[in-house]
Amino acid sequence: NANPKPLVSEGEDKSPDPPSYSNNTTKLSTDNWTFNRTLSNLIRKNILRFFDPERDISILKGTLKPGDVIHYIFDRQSTTNISENLYQLLPTASPMKNQHHRRCAIIGNSGILLNSSCGPEIDSYDFVIRCNLAPVEEYAGDVGRRTNLVTMNPSVVQRAFQDLASEEWRERFLQRLRSLSGSVLWIPAFMAKGGEERVEWAIRLILLHTVDVHTAFPSLRLLHAVRGYWLTNNVQIKRPTTGLLMYTMATRFCEEIHLYGFWPFPQDSQGKPVKYHYYDTLTYEYTSHASPHTMPLEFRTLSSLHRQGALRLHTGSCD
Ligand code: CTP
Repeated sequence: NANPKPLVSEGEDKSPDPPSYSNNTTKLSTDNWTFNRTLSNLIRKNILRFFDPERDISILKGTLKPGDVIHYIFDRQSTTNISENLYQLLPTASPMKNQHHRRCAIIGNSGILLNSSCGPEIDSYDFVIRCNLAPVEEYAGDVGRRTNLVTMNPSVVQRAFQDLASEEWRERFLQRLRSLSGSVLWIPAFMAKGGEERVEWAIRLILLHTVDVHTAFPSLRLLHAVRGYWLTNNVQIKRPTTGLLMYTMATRFCEEIHLYGFWPFPQDSQGKPVKYHYYDTLTYEYTSHASPHTMPLEFRTLSSLHRQGALRLHTGSCD
């Protein structure tokens, strides 16, 4: 049996159907979607058997000290040290401690968002999660502005902020961070080697300018745990994308989860071209060679959960 045994104790919802992840189609019905609370609760419980997102969302200050050696998660042979600056930005308690939200939106970065007019709808959620510091201001009508948690892969510092090499780029980066005031900035600093300088430059600026963000650095076990959860459900994901990581973690903090901007295909359902990202010129060709992700498989998995009512994927216009 590929599905984990439902973890439901006596007296609770009796034997809900376990989620099915195997349906192989990407077709989505949006008209008659209803939230399946029982299934959503079951998924949360099953994920909690692998890890607790409240805890694993960040390494805490007490658990490490400056100078400690860390092995990268994907490059176990390579190590880095906890810098003084990074140590200063480790939280003392989980930035998501005791947070529970009724309706959350997770915003992926697909070009499917362009001309969607989904901005106001997205801004109406209780908690909005975004990926990789994607810009919002210039695209607010389609993607909204509200941000409660945003991720930042080290590669973003290079790709979107030119390695902070000039005063102009440092200022742009700071401006983006200042607009996040009070939000969680989630930096997966120890996934793969090569980004340590970029993380260091970024956090130096955050400290120097006392930017009001709650930094978080995912625990070293998070990725394996997320992969373990999906593998146990027969979804063979080598390296989960940021979007899937966010969904898996959000199940802990959110009741209803809505996904926007998840569409890893170069055409929409009518055959019109769709940009890889809504805000830059990266192409599908580039990512299919360079990326270890299996986004279409993730999308099929999310579509299947959409059909079962565990989450809602929004891939059309919000007009
Ligand atoms: N995404 C998607 N379809 C796209 C682009 C992105 O579904 N065409 C989703 C993915 O879940 C992705 C998330 O949106 O993780 C955020 O996009 P991006 O910043 O490209 O994330 P990653 O690919 O995970 O980041 P990286 O390339 O740095 O690994």
